[in-house]
Amino acid sequence: MDFTPQELERLIEKAIELKTMWQQGDPYSPLKNRTLAMIFDKSSTRTRVSFEVGMTQLGGHALFLSPDDTQLGRGEPVEDSARVISRMADAIMIRTFEHAMVEKFAQYSQVPVINALTDDYHPCQLLADVMTYVELRGSIKGAQVTWVGDGNNMCHSWMNAARQFDFQLKIACPEGYEPNAQLLAELGDRVAIIHDPKEASKNSDIVVTDVWASMGQEAEQKRREKDFAGYQVNSELMAQANDDALFMHCLPAHRGEEVSEKVLEGKQSVVWQEAENRLHAQKALLVLLLVDQLPDIQ
Ligand code: CP
Ligand code: NVA
Repeated sequence: MDFTPQELERLIEKAIELKTMWQQGDPYSPLKNRTLAMIFDKSSTRTRVSFEVGMTQLGGHALFLSPDDTQLGRGEPVEDSARVISRMADAIMIRTFEHAMVEKFAQYSQVPVINALTDDYHPCQLLADVMTYVELRGSIKGAQVTWVGDGNNMCHSWMNAARQFDFQLKIACPEGYEPNAQLLAELGDRVAIIHDPKEASKNSDIVVTDVWASMGQEAEQKRREKDFAGYQVNSELMAQANDDALFMHCLPAHRGEEVSEKVLEGKQSVVWQEAENRLHAQKALLVLLLVDQLPDIQ
């Protein structure tokens, strides 16, 4: 949300350009001598690999910092850690539980802080998801997107994306699993809650889902399996959407729960391209945040 719609459009264009350059073997290393500090309080495959590989491809370096190894994990205040780390690293990426922690870190940081997933949002995933749609279908402006499942961090970032990229979002979630009410109110008629997943999927260009129990909610798994019965994205549900609708999922996926094996591995699924695009979209993010804004030290 800190980027304007124009900046985001430029970021997606840049991501596609960087992907082509990389595929053509055309090296682009503007981040020589730059370091990204990556703070992970939760597990990750895609986010860690894409940021770390991205920094390598851009000529820089990425530091993996887990709570087991840093003083943050032993209770050093966020304010102090932010001031120390940001005097050395050029950008900081954080994956944690409370969104307020990232905001506080950013408040005390001298360098850009990137949200790599909190309990409330996962914006980097949306950069990759929008990029994937643009590559396959062109502009996402005016598209119809259906979210099926929990009103969670991914759902909130799809809501923010609906505003920034100008598309319509229908959210099909069970009663009691609605997204943040304040965010919903801010979005007006751009986002609608339609509890019935079949109804919500009609005329859709993208059907997207996510796990029923997110990281930190493992103890609720069994209850959620019951509450989300009927919210699986399967062939029957995909049949409600447009014939050329795409299926998206941030991954990791739980086959047989939120998505059927057939849909995940089927022709409409673009999940592997989405995962790869984390790399290209985040490279574009790092370039836009760092390259134009720092003095040349190469
Ligand atoms: N989609 C995503 O963020 O995956 P990881 O949890 O593996 O980073
Ligand atoms: N909603 C999921 C997304 C994982 C990328 C979680 O927070 O665990």
